[in-house]
Amino acid sequence: MRVLVTGGAGFIGSNLVDRLLADGHDVVAVDDLSSGNGDNLARAAESDRFALRVLDICDPALADLATEVRPEVICHLAAQISVRRSVADPMRDARVNVEGTASVLMAAHRGGTRKVVFASSVAVYGRPATIPVPADAPADPRSPYAASKLSGETYLATFRALHGIEYTTLVLSNVYGPRQSPDGEAGVVAIFTDAMIGGTPTVVYGDGTQTRDYVYVDDVVEGFVRACGSRGDGRRFNLGTGIQTTDRRLHSLVADAAGSPDKPGFAQPRMGDLPAMAVDPVPAVEGLGWEPRTDLATGLKQTVEWARSRRR
Ligand SMILES: NC(=O)c1ccc[n+]([C@@H]2O[C@H](COP(=O)([O-])OP(=O)(O)OC[C@H]3O[C@@H](n4cnc5c(N)ncnc54)[C@H](O)[C@@H]3O)[C@@H](O)[C@H]2O)c1
Repeated sequence: MRVLVTGGAGFIGSNLVDRLLADGHDVVAVDDLSSGNGDNLARAAESDRFALRVLDICDPALADLATEVRPEVICHLAAQISVRRSVADPMRDARVNVEGTASVLMAAHRGGTRKVVFASSVAVYGRPATIPVPADAPADPRSPYAASKLSGETYLATFRALHGIEYTTLVLSNVYGPRQSPDGEAGVVAIFTDAMIGGTPTVVYGDGTQTRDYVYVDDVVEGFVRACGSRGDGRRFNLGTGIQTTDRRLHSLVADAAGSPDKPGFAQPRMGDLPAMAVDPVPAVEGLGWEPRTDLATGLKQTVEWARSRRR
């Protein structure tokens, strides 16, 4: 199969690229390297079944590329990923996440692509009434980022109706693992890991009882690979564990994995942070045969090992 991965130089995208190549597929990654990193694709670059095109997804050249490559599937992960940046600059967020998604769908149309697999976010649920959040929970976007991801979901359904392009939306909870940047706001695991192995202080915002649903990157990649087939056509699934982990517990687990003192500093809670989040993955089990396989302690050990190897 020929797969085009947007955001292929990023954290999740590059792990997906490696997996698709290992499975024997031909892969073209498209990335403007705005937050992604060419180093993430060092292993992929050794394969003659791989190519990286440094390109903004909003560039009309994307459709020309799709016409040339004719990818059977496009995994669309390129995005402006920061909630805070989306609040400060909603126009830029909309350009990449709304206009960019429309551009990817036009490219899919021009390239005769059968299916687009889209990375959405639990942010679309806002402040959910039920936890774990079911995949059919009502959307309640409370940031421009959430609004733009939801808009991306809507565009997928529109292009399916207009042009018959299939889609699966994967709603990702808090993904962690090797290659996650500690610079981003989404990566608390990466931030704790980087600080602990660098011997710098760690901070927990609030009293440490806030919860998140941490899902390991290899499990998320498995979800994308499964969705590249015909299973899950026209559907959306949560990719998470359904398990809530408090910030304080996460700190202890990372400290354990890193062999570091479990002594965070505490700071005022940040405005707009949700008190709790976890998503119900059961429909993905039924619809994609997917389940989260990596327990948090194992995933954190692998993440710490990777972060250490990077510093050597
Ligand atoms: N990491 C998480 O916990 C999480 C949670 C929910 C949803 N997601 C979604 O998963 C996807 C991947 O996220 P990630 O954590 O790997 O982030 P990332 O920043 O590592 O990857 C995003 C990639 O997109 C590229 N990109 C950004 N704008 C682009 C543009 N205009 N044209 C081409 N490339 C562009 C970046 O350079 C980067 O390589 C995103 O769509 C994100 O919204 C991630």
